[in-house]
Amino acid sequence: MNSFSDIPILDDLDAVKKTPASGGGGPQVYLETYGCQMNVSDSEIVASILKENDFGLTHDLNGADVVLINTCAIRENAEQKVRRRLQEIRAHKRKYRPDLKIGVLGCMAERLRTQFLEEEKLVDLVVGPDAYRDLPNLLKTTFSTGQAAVNVQLSREETYADIAPVRYNSNGVSAFVSIMRGCDNMCSFCVVPFTRGRERSRPTRSILDECKQLIDSGYKEVTVLGQNVNSYSVGENGSAVNFAELLHRISLLSDSLRIRYSTSHPKDCSDELLHVHRERPNVCNYIHLPVQHGNTGVLKRMRRTYSRDEYLSLVKRVRNIVPGISLSTDIIAGFCGETEDEHADTLSLMREIRYDHAFMFMYSERPNTYAARKYNDDVSEEMKKRRLNEIITLQNEISLENNRNEIGRVHTTLVEGPSRRSDEQFSGRSDTNKMVVFDRESFSIGDYVDVRVTSCTSATLRGKAVNKSRNGFRTVSESAGINEHALPVVN
Ligand code: 5AD
Ligand code: SF4
Repeated sequence: MNSFSDIPILDDLDAVKKTPASGGGGPQVYLETYGCQMNVSDSEIVASILKENDFGLTHDLNGADVVLINTCAIRENAEQKVRRRLQEIRAHKRKYRPDLKIGVLGCMAERLRTQFLEEEKLVDLVVGPDAYRDLPNLLKTTFSTGQAAVNVQLSREETYADIAPVRYNSNGVSAFVSIMRGCDNMCSFCVVPFTRGRERSRPTRSILDECKQLIDSGYKEVTVLGQNVNSYSVGENGSAVNFAELLHRISLLSDSLRIRYSTSHPKDCSDELLHVHRERPNVCNYIHLPVQHGNTGVLKRMRRTYSRDEYLSLVKRVRNIVPGISLSTDIIAGFCGETEDEHADTLSLMREIRYDHAFMFMYSERPNTYAARKYNDDVSEEMKKRRLNEIITLQNEISLENNRNEIGRVHTTLVEGPSRRSDEQFSGRSDTNKMVVFDRESFSIGDYVDVRVTSCTSATLRGKAVNKSRNGFRTVSESAGINEHALPVVN
């Protein structure tokens, strides 16, 4: 059988996005993406470069001449998932399609190139996150010579500013716009500075032009992306444009375009940025503010550059300037040397802040990082799991309580598509980034709808449409008062 149909599909495909079919008469490329939003955005750039060079994009593995896997290296389990997938594809190449070319793109490329290419002979092509422009040449080389092709050079300049991403997998309503690449922060647990290189910002003009094109094509929401968006900085006519200024300029492009961003570092959250949230109604009322841990000693070992108290004062400042703003965070359980008391500090910080949402992880040691070189990964797997479960349980309780406080309020929701459970219902997100589900009636995808919340779970608000909204402006709160948990809780 010359077929991929018996490739077992991985259970957890949440992070995997597949290429759609489109254009190009040359070799057909199937592209699979693992990991974060930044990787999804990178795959859109890769798709654009391939299309420009007459490669076709296919969603059918069986019809593909090339399989490219855009990889993630942030945690060990992400890497293992990609490795399993490569082995499956490799086995099928051996058995059914000896001429198939397999390529690894992105974050795993640099570190694993020797292993993938020479030791395991798993792939034909390895291309790092700053070398995508070279992809057509590398593919041509491997097709014509049968030799493996590699480019994992990291760049200090590359931002792919001039490349118009192919918006595959898009709902036509919300899009990612990449504004900077790399990271200079060197948190001790994080591999990103090694896999993605030094921080660099994309020219403001090209970002604004891309946003304008999205507006002209009917998009209603952009999420501007970077490893650390709030350290965005470019020189323009002798002065610098910072992230607050960039966000402000994007927000002026159209009243009906909502703007989100991800992801930010607490140390760079300026008052100027908070005032943009306050003053520009189409800049969403939501900030993802990764804390990572609730104990100052652990934060120091993590090299996060702020203490627990400094983070708490930041949250107070955020909530004073932008009352009612929704906050989410990232938390790591079981970092090197974490004691029971230090873990308890993470739980108490969560109780104090009452995030609406959190992404929660078990620490996994990453090669070359400061933590890997200097500390012992000495919290047992069992203890890491137990602590992570405590964090998740607490967050679920808080999310549910926060959501219950929304009952009776009205949220302007941008319709993204049918809800997962029923075609009769639409789902979308509120200004505060909460998933909202309601009867579809005669609304359409891309409409802003004011929805009154009638019930909830910890993850979703359910409600009834009250009317179509003019644009994506701020949530209208019609019940008395603001969510008391959204007011400053730190003294
Ligand atoms: N182990 C566990 N979680 C990690 N993260 C980054 N590196 C690691 C690691 N080695 C988490 C952080 C970061 C998010 C994107 O992934 O919480 O904010
Ligand atoms: Fe990694 Fe820290 Fe940079 Fe985020 S800020 S990408 S956690 S090094």
